[in-house]
Amino acid sequence: MAMSQALRDAMNDQIRHELYSAYLYLSMAAYFEALHLPGFAHWMRVQAREEVGHAMKFFDHLCDRGERVVLQALSSLRPISPRRRRPSPRPSSTSGGSPV
Ligand SMILES: [Fe+2]
Repeated sequence: MAMSQALRDAMNDQIRHELYSAYLYLSMAAYFEALHLPGFAHWMRVQAREEVGHAMKFFDHLCDRGERVVLQALSSLRPISPRRRRPSPRPSSTSGGSPV
């Protein structure tokens, strides 16, 4: 039985969401690698693989049903730089500073 266009589109879109999540986890893995935190990086890599696994389940299901997989572009992503400065902490309201 043929799949409805709406369902096929939704499943193809879900593949993009899963791969986008994998990409985000992979960027976090790269961030932690740059900070020499291999345990955190490993955990992020595991999460990235899990998201790819989710995408492949949708991919395989579409193929098994004889439907067309249409991979979509991932949204633009900005790389996370470990050298990017963290915002300076706000002065505490209990520190005696003037309220903003
Ligand atoms: Fe997922």
